Amino acid sequence: MLHEKFHYKTLEELLDTAKQANGNIPVSDDLGVLFEKVDQNGIHFENRFAIQPMEGCDAADDGTPGELTTRRYERFAKSGAGLIWAEAVAILPEGRAKPHQLHMKDDNLDGFKRMVEQIKETSMKENGFAPVVIMQAAHSGRYSNPNGYSEPIIAYNNPLFEKDKPIDPARIITDDEIKRLEERYAWAAANAEKCGFDGVDIKSCHRYLLSEFLSAYDRPGEYGGSFENRTKLLRHAIKNAMDATGKDFIVTSRLNVYDGFPYPYGFGAKDGEGIIPDLTEGKKLIDILCDDLGVKMLDITIGNPYVNPHVNRPYDRGNYVPEEHPLFGLGRIMDCVTEIQKHRPDLLVVGSGFSYPRQFSARLAAGMIARGGCTVAGFGRMAFAYPDFIQDLKKTGELDPKKCCVACGECAKLLRAGQASGCVMRDNKLYRPHKD
Ligand SMILES: Cc1cc2nc3c(=O)[nH]c(=O)nc-3n(C[C@H](O)[C@H](O)[C@H](O)COP(=O)(O)O)c2cc1C
Repeated sequence: MLHEKFHYKTLEELLDTAKQANGNIPVSDDLGVLFEKVDQNGIHFENRFAIQPMEGCDAADDGTPGELTTRRYERFAKSGAGLIWAEAVAILPEGRAKPHQLHMKDDNLDGFKRMVEQIKETSMKENGFAPVVIMQAAHSGRYSNPNGYSEPIIAYNNPLFEKDKPIDPARIITDDEIKRLEERYAWAAANAEKCGFDGVDIKSCHRYLLSEFLSAYDRPGEYGGSFENRTKLLRHAIKNAMDATGKDFIVTSRLNVYDGFPYPYGFGAKDGEGIIPDLTEGKKLIDILCDDLGVKMLDITIGNPYVNPHVNRPYDRGNYVPEEHPLFGLGRIMDCVTEIQKHRPDLLVVGSGFSYPRQFSARLAAGMIARGGCTVAGFGRMAFAYPDFIQDLKKTGELDPKKCCVACGECAKLLRAGQASGCVMRDNKLYRPHKD
């Protein structure tokens, strides 16, 4: 059963098709669980909704939040989500994904401080509480494009991605450079704390630099080969961030537990098993992060938005037709997140990928929580399209299909083109489709 566009008028129709496509989609009608408070591991959430990080590519020239950035976070703050996981913020100039990515520097902290203050003030005024706000500390690695053209910094050459255009091996980051980078995360965490963020995410997902290291099986030296070596950069970065901040400051990670590529080019798939998820190493890593380092919350995600975007965020429009049904892909994200939460019921797990089923998204989120699949449901694209979705749900118990994200992928296309990203369907006074 191949790709099929979303056409479901009822949840039953969606579930029937999911079954045929082998997509395991948990649902529940008990939406009340989404509005429950969470008090766990010293962290408090007013409800179980999170807004996931989404780069807007709309920073001011100095790397601080620009006018459109401020508008986006104002909308997210009004939403009433208990957790706002702010987008990728570059912590080094050469690690920027785009010239207008948010970029933290010694001399521009005031801009980030204002951003957090505004989020908290707005939510306090609209919702009566201040959400937990996390900063995603990022190095874009292979996808660095700080001056408007690609300037990759890679863990290893990957023929699967590079195909007939191998990247110059001189662009492989050296062990000495990695040691300096590990220290940069202490700087980033301390500054995030100074700016008022409640926590910092040592970003290790979607095949950006730290995520790529998890599959550096064939890299020689201290940071490649063994599990210990491949996870070293992430572990050291987390430790440094913790040492540089107060005990109540959250040090977390958005973590890929599965990349969707075969061994030796992807994390989370076993040698000889193609692209079937195998989370053994992911769980082992998470045990170390929790038990040895004291990590209390992780945001679990999968895939790579450039090479296999359907794995990362199922969608069904545009020119790209994945070879799998989006409901199968959706089931895979939910199953991966659930496997982690079931492995560590003591961990606060933020689940990813909830936007695809449109008006049925809230039922999916409730179903995930009911089956013990995650603690908090994280919404990405839905928040661009329909920033008041939580408010509507609270008032009517339903999401309005006319306001939902349609999973068209246009927001990501804008981002790839280096333009400010947002919803071209629902916010189209500002955002127009990118012309290829
Ligand atoms: C335009 C766009 C920008 C994104 N930027 C980030 C980012 O900065 N950091 C990150 O970890 N994920 C990023 N993502 C991935 C989302 O956080 C999320 O995992 C993905 O969209 C799937 O969730 P959804 O189905 O709710 O949209 C981005 C996604 C989109 C569409």
